[in-house]
Amino acid sequence: MASDSLPPVGPAEAAARAQQLRAQLHHHAHRYYVLDDPEIPDAEYDRLFRELQALEEAHPVLRTADSPTQRVIGQVLEGLAPVRHAVPMLSIQTETDTTAEGARAFDARVRRELELTDDAPPVAYAAELKFDGLAINLRYEAGVLVQATTRGDGETGEDVTQNIRTIGQIPLRLMGEAATLPPVLEVRGEVYMRRDDFERLNAQQRERGEKTYVNPRNTAAGAVRQLDPAVTAARPLSFYAYGLGESQGLPAFARHSEMISWLQHSGLPVNERRRVCEGADALVAFHRAVEAERDALPFDIDGVVYKVDRLDWQRRLGFKSREPRWAGAHKFPAQEQATRLNGIDIQVGRTGKLTPVAKLEPVFVGGTTVSNATLHNRFELRRKGVRVGDTVIVRRAGDVIPEVVGRMPGERPSYVPNFAMPCECPVCGSPVRREKGSLEHRCTGGLFCAAQRKQALLHFAGRRAMDIEGLGDKLVDQLVDGGLVRTLPELYTLGVAKLSALERMADKSAANLLAGLEKSKQTTLARFLYALGIRHVGESTAKDLARHFGNLDALMDATGEQLLEVNDVGPIVAESVRQFFAQPHHREIVERLRAVGITWPEALADADTPKPLAGKTLVLTGTLPTMGRDEAQALIEAAGGKVSGSVSKKTHYVVAGAEAGSKLAKAQELGVPVLDEAGLLALLENPA
Ligand code: IVH
Repeated sequence: MASDSLPPVGPAEAAARAQQLRAQLHHHAHRYYVLDDPEIPDAEYDRLFRELQALEEAHPVLRTADSPTQRVIGQVLEGLAPVRHAVPMLSIQTETDTTAEGARAFDARVRRELELTDDAPPVAYAAELKFDGLAINLRYEAGVLVQATTRGDGETGEDVTQNIRTIGQIPLRLMGEAATLPPVLEVRGEVYMRRDDFERLNAQQRERGEKTYVNPRNTAAGAVRQLDPAVTAARPLSFYAYGLGESQGLPAFARHSEMISWLQHSGLPVNERRRVCEGADALVAFHRAVEAERDALPFDIDGVVYKVDRLDWQRRLGFKSREPRWAGAHKFPAQEQATRLNGIDIQVGRTGKLTPVAKLEPVFVGGTTVSNATLHNRFELRRKGVRVGDTVIVRRAGDVIPEVVGRMPGERPSYVPNFAMPCECPVCGSPVRREKGSLEHRCTGGLFCAAQRKQALLHFAGRRAMDIEGLGDKLVDQLVDGGLVRTLPELYTLGVAKLSALERMADKSAANLLAGLEKSKQTTLARFLYALGIRHVGESTAKDLARHFGNLDALMDATGEQLLEVNDVGPIVAESVRQFFAQPHHREIVERLRAVGITWPEALADADTPKPLAGKTLVLTGTLPTMGRDEAQALIEAAGGKVSGSVSKKTHYVVAGAEAGSKLAKAQELGVPVLDEAGLLALLENPA
């Protein structure tokens, strides 16, 4: 027992020490959780904590409700007990006009209710974020947290005291002199989960092969309403205070904004992104600014809240049924909506990769109508537990592509089968294969598959590839489905006659496309290589290849070994490039593209310049006397050499400067020749 190791102390001494420890621990918990600015190392906090725990164990009478040791309680509840609110927890009226201008309606209503004349000065409002979490009432008596309740129906909530105690950000005791602490203070605010905490939690779930959570709000709400506080404690929750419930003995605040600052001084977390706005223009500006920042915030919000700042005016305005007249909620467009999953389609990508795509009952979310959303892969699909016919939750935040994040709980017919990947490509019927060690399923049809052909055309026409203006996905669908274009070169054989035969193709669009095609013929070798869509050849590899070989014929005839000499090209890329050009069919496509007039300025081929270090691997270590590391690397690469980060038997030279360490030792051990800067320069001139 820890108490055995304590020096024997009298009850009075123990009480004094316990009180001191509690005060210290409260202070440090506030620095750590609320201010994010700890003064002492975690280990020191733990030491103080354990000392208090031991004292309380030896003297159970010292164990107070506000003791930091009481944050985690092991007891599982049978149910959450109902608690009637001393002051009802109301909701706020939501503005109907969701544009920033909607704030004017709120201001106009307040002015009318206050019977202000048009020439009266602007009303001051406390503008705050509308946190997307769970509303909580915290009851402090004489500064000690005694009860925490959910909002429930507004009249009666649930007792979640044990769970709320596990949230480090919520003070168990208010800061301030005992004599100044109010006898009763109910603080209202929102329990929420930060986005990074949510992502971490989901990553953990994925690792364990368990179901992922849908969004931070539901996860936070679920955590607060747990029966086992240990479960709550394992979920990273946060809190912001934004108002009051019942209170006695508080300073006489004149304004809401003053009261919020006082809460902050009492140790409660309040959000910094709040402002007192004078009049409607300032509210509109606040709404605009926050909406622009929304995606960059570390937590979810669903809008902003405006409150008349003067408390005497709040009293004058009073309530209308269940809502205060002095507050308004102004929401942003929802980023999540529930809708029906009508089906699951399989999309075939450019490289044949199959992706399950949700076919949704169209729904307006995140500012657009969404009817398709990615389901990533069958593992994600299974983790989310969604099946056709379910009501699912679709999320579209910022410019991220829409995704299905989970399903709404509810009945589902038992006969709906689990989703399975098809054995045949749904587009061309070719066999589907899963490569060894890969999670991906691929159609083996190659360019025989219309889906892959379409994607290949779209990739070829892309802005960073051949940049063909006027060739979008609708047109590509028509060209491929109508049999007008089967291969890349056929794009350039299109004429006005063929194009005008297409549905919805105006002469003007046809002319635009033809001009776009013509313009695309003047390109660069790097763009052309990237446009071909060779597997594993992205933009930057295409540039490296173009720079290294200078002309296409040299590249097409390159051996695997020659390809490996290219900067950043490893065995997988080299093999992919070699295989691509080994296929007569691909060579023919390239020839025909050249024949229709695609050209690029012939660069001075790297391959034609002398390459004294071709095939050699060098390692740089220490500080060279005149050359920077980048400079040395550039010289070596220009000479055809490769720079590696570690010394092995395959290393040809180690170039060592001042304060070279373990790499030099390794070179000596393996008998790798070691050069200094002068030695490197000599090598570049006269290779060994
Ligand atoms: S004030 C009487 N301020 O929005 C007004 N509420 O319908 C009491 N909320 O579920 C609420 N952020 O939990 C207020 N800065 C904020 C808020 C906020 C989020 C939530 C609140 C309630 C709903 C109001």
